[in-house]
Amino acid sequence: MIKTLISQYIEEIRSARIEDFKDRAAEVEQFRVRFLGRKGVMNELFEQFKALPADQKKEMGIALNELKTAALAKVEEFKNFVEQAPELNDRQDLTMPADFSQRGSRHVLSVTMNEIADIFARIGFTVEESVEIEDDWHLFSALNFPHDHPARDMQDTFFVEKEEGKQEVALRTHTSSVQVRVMETHKPPIRIIAPGRVFRNEAISARAHCIFHQVEALYVDKKVTFADLKQTLLYFAKEMFGEDTQIRLRPSYFPFTEPSAEMDISCNICGGKGCNICKGTGWLEILGCGMVDPNVLEACGIDSKEYSGFALGMGVERMAMLKYQVRDLRLYFENDLRFLHQFDNII
Ligand code: DAH
Repeated sequence: MIKTLISQYIEEIRSARIEDFKDRAAEVEQFRVRFLGRKGVMNELFEQFKALPADQKKEMGIALNELKTAALAKVEEFKNFVEQAPELNDRQDLTMPADFSQRGSRHVLSVTMNEIADIFARIGFTVEESVEIEDDWHLFSALNFPHDHPARDMQDTFFVEKEEGKQEVALRTHTSSVQVRVMETHKPPIRIIAPGRVFRNEAISARAHCIFHQVEALYVDKKVTFADLKQTLLYFAKEMFGEDTQIRLRPSYFPFTEPSAEMDISCNICGGKGCNICKGTGWLEILGCGMVDPNVLEACGIDSKEYSGFALGMGVERMAMLKYQVRDLRLYFENDLRFLHQFDNII
């Protein structure tokens, strides 16, 4: 009888696993007390052993010894475990499904802006950032917008200060102001991009917002030509929208570039056949660009006889719209999780 009981205890001790304990340190102690404590299994069995007839004592003694050794060894093993991995001691049910806490992810506009920056970084452009509240000089005058010229109305401006006889101060309407700041303080060669937030006094709709983002690029050096601009544009379009992308340039007007152009890419939705995104034309308007007007170089203290340059500017929201087929500008700013989560995996 006692012998079977002892074998069962030995079996129980040997098969006990620390992983099954919830509160490890406390349960190891309970385990020790149960077998080796003053009122524990071991002592109880020893009492029974003492009462046995002499001829059974030898066999039972051996069995009891085995039980004690097993219990001591197990307690030792458990204690080592608890000491070595204290962080595991309060582990709860290991078979429970993991709790996947929600991780934040980058906003699609940040991802797109980083991607544009990476593409330009690969051909030697560095990132410049500057102020969002700008004066008239950096926003307009140095960029060859003559005072009272209708070109100033191309961009509806939020003025911070607009007093007769004082320099106007406004939320920047474009990142072209960073061109001026960089050219004023750096000697060519200049090869920068300026990503950032811009503001325009526009009614909010699916296609317009009062806050949006632009990336401006500027390259100034000796002998920079329109061919350099075209090749840079083609490289950018292919990197951004895929190897098969084609570009076309249409003449345009910006005060700060001469000549100026707008670049279209072949529609990445229909492959150029014509669809409702490209309004049946097969082309999507992407960005403005041109050769930096000599007046701008001179205004920034760069000799326009020695140096020339190109510039380009694009809207980040529009890039992301075309790349990820976002249909409404407002979605970018509402921070609806159902929208944001769609971009969890884009980088
Ligand atoms: N600043 C222009 C805008 O906000 C975009 C732009 C057009 C930038 C042509 C340029 C450029 O650098 O060359 O509409």
